[in-house]
Amino acid sequence: MSTPGDGTRVVHAGLPAPVPGEPFLPGPVFAAPYHLDPVAGPGAAVDGYGRPDNRTRRALETAIGELERGDTRVFASGQAAITAALLTVLRPGDAVLLPSDGYFAVRAFAAGTLAELGVDVRTAPTAGPYPSFEGIRLVLLETPANPGLDVCDIPAIAAAAHAAGALVAVDNTAATPLGQRPLDLGADLVVASGTKALTGHSDLLLGYVAARDEALLARLTTWRAQTGGVPGAFDCWLAHRSLGTLDLRLARQTANAAALAPLLAAHPAVTGVRWPGLPGDPAHAIASAQMRRIPGLIGFDLGSEERVGAFLSASRLIFAATSFGGLHTSADRRAQWGDDTTPGFVRLSCGVEDTKDLVEDVKAALGG
Ligand SMILES: Cc1ncc(COP(=O)(O)O)c(C=O)c1O
Repeated sequence: MSTPGDGTRVVHAGLPAPVPGEPFLPGPVFAAPYHLDPVAGPGAAVDGYGRPDNRTRRALETAIGELERGDTRVFASGQAAITAALLTVLRPGDAVLLPSDGYFAVRAFAAGTLAELGVDVRTAPTAGPYPSFEGIRLVLLETPANPGLDVCDIPAIAAAAHAAGALVAVDNTAATPLGQRPLDLGADLVVASGTKALTGHSDLLLGYVAARDEALLARLTTWRAQTGGVPGAFDCWLAHRSLGTLDLRLARQTANAAALAPLLAAHPAVTGVRWPGLPGDPAHAIASAQMRRIPGLIGFDLGSEERVGAFLSASRLIFAATSFGGLHTSADRRAQWGDDTTPGFVRLSCGVEDTKDLVEDVKAALGG
């Protein structure tokens, strides 16, 4: 068989070999302790205690690992995964470079906990310019960045960072492994929130770290077992179940963004439209070169908090909600969470509704 396409890969990712009478995806295994061999003890079976050992979690890790092409550990949330990666790699006296325009909670963690631990926290905008990487231990990139949707050149930055002795981690939340494979592009680590498009049903929190370096993964696995930020079996099972439709969901989300972005850009009430799929977007060239798909996220400005409120109240289909990447189209005025954005800036997350219905709804909500 030729190389399977994305739809085939997600449908089969992490599934056990077929066994007559068994389900395609085995149900969740709920266990804190498991039975031990009364004589041989923990060495006699793979699973002994739920914090380090759970086969539903391992199946999900196999699935995500197949898509990211790296060994994967899942965590209770994206924040749990990202902070685990940062605290596994960084030590007092190290320097870390973070995106100044990325997910705000990561910067807040760095400015608080990491700085208090003696880590030198530096920032650079995703679109650059980047400082010298000399003396930096870890460069964390977020591309496309949330919420501004700027994109950076992963291979070029990874090459420069590696030449200076730094490790590179990429937050792949917005792209998902079907949109971009950072490990193939030169990154050492992928970190992500699986709460968003990866699982896409707005019903669970999840995070993961993927890497190819066994020593790094061993330290991360120990970190997770000792700090305990594991996702529950049911969330892992739901996430695995949801992965099977990732290709279909992303395709519709991108198609919806492709219809809405030009409409928004042409509307007199809207300014500053950002969608890396638009030919005139500043991120278009790099995104087209390095990404396999453009996510269904659009940024734009309606001018004021009041106009955003009026737009969302007038829309019949767009849910006012934070997070993104779900089945339902949703919009978030980011300044209400303390993001450094203008009061009228909106991050629109296109869902999987019919394109014609969304176009009609957005036109009507904008006042024609
Ligand atoms: C880019 C990015 N990374 C990480 C996170 C954190 O993920 P979680 O909310 O699953 O902890 C988010 C959440 O919005 C995000 O947008």
